[in-house]
Amino acid sequence: MESHVHGLWLAPLRGVTIRTFRAVFGAAIREAGFVGMYAPFIPANAGFRFSKRLFADILPDDGGDNSGLELVPQVIGKDPSALREWCKAAKDLGYSRVDLNAGCPFPMIRRKGRGSGLLRTPDALDRMLEAGCDEMGAGGFSLKTRLGLVHPDELFGLMPVIDRYPLAVLTVHARTAVQMYEGEADRSAFEAVAAAAKVPVMYNGDADISDPAPAGGLMVGRRFIRALANRADARELLLRYREASMRELCGDAPVLGRMKELLSYWCQEPAWRRLWPTVKICRSVDELALCCR
Ligand SMILES: Cc1cc2nc3c(=O)[nH]c(=O)nc-3n(C[C@H](O)[C@H](O)[C@H](O)COP(=O)(O)O)c2cc1C
Repeated sequence: MESHVHGLWLAPLRGVTIRTFRAVFGAAIREAGFVGMYAPFIPANAGFRFSKRLFADILPDDGGDNSGLELVPQVIGKDPSALREWCKAAKDLGYSRVDLNAGCPFPMIRRKGRGSGLLRTPDALDRMLEAGCDEMGAGGFSLKTRLGLVHPDELFGLMPVIDRYPLAVLTVHARTAVQMYEGEADRSAFEAVAAAAKVPVMYNGDADISDPAPAGGLMVGRRFIRALANRADARELLLRYREASMRELCGDAPVLGRMKELLSYWCQEPAWRRLWPTVKICRSVDELALCCR
């Protein structure tokens, strides 16, 4: 499928925007105006080998609701040869674009030089961009990152490295890694990067789907997930998500965990807020279904 890099994109949210979620909510995602979705990251560590289990989240679709939306798989790692193998596997599965995660803020990941840790090692970032662009071809590779690890001007300083590559797009979550998901997104630091960059730049961070999109596009995550709670068919979709998850997973606990993950967003909305104390303590899928009726 032709990659449309601009427009509105659904952010990857590990544990939330997973395969079954994308299938059940695909029509709602399309209706909201999204052109595509990024899949949550899949690691490419040294010695990487393809397995169906590792790639289960992005194996070609069996005709779910999300057909018509482009899916961009995302890789996390720091080893260029593992990245090459990962990209080959993605191409074998039919993908024409791969996104590199250089934004994951978790200390365990960033201290190992992966995710946002790549911002601290420009040479490693350079080699990853070289490997990814070489393997995927011009416009077949993209980067998702943050403004910096600690300071919001670090990415700006890295632009001479990034701009050397024919990236499809550079997505910038307008926070530093140490901010995690808290505090203000820094739109003016984003503007400085976007104005200087030669590659198209997509905005991400606390945006709403109705916000104006910069030329490189707009990526929206949590606000859209929360807004799904206000659809007239929210309960029906939740039930379908529960049923599909029960078919996919074994036992109550993982299904319950998955539902609670989504409901932790929905219960931030006024219409669902009063349910959260009950949802939180539900111990079975049936109990959960009763309290969300
Ligand atoms: C639970 C959770 C999981 C996430 N998983 C990923 C991921 O797999 N890959 C990635 O690049 N970003 C990930 N992110 C970051 C989001 O894609 C996005 O950059 C961030 O939430 C800011 O955008 P938003 O305010 O529109 O949600 C995750 C964020 C959250 C809260």
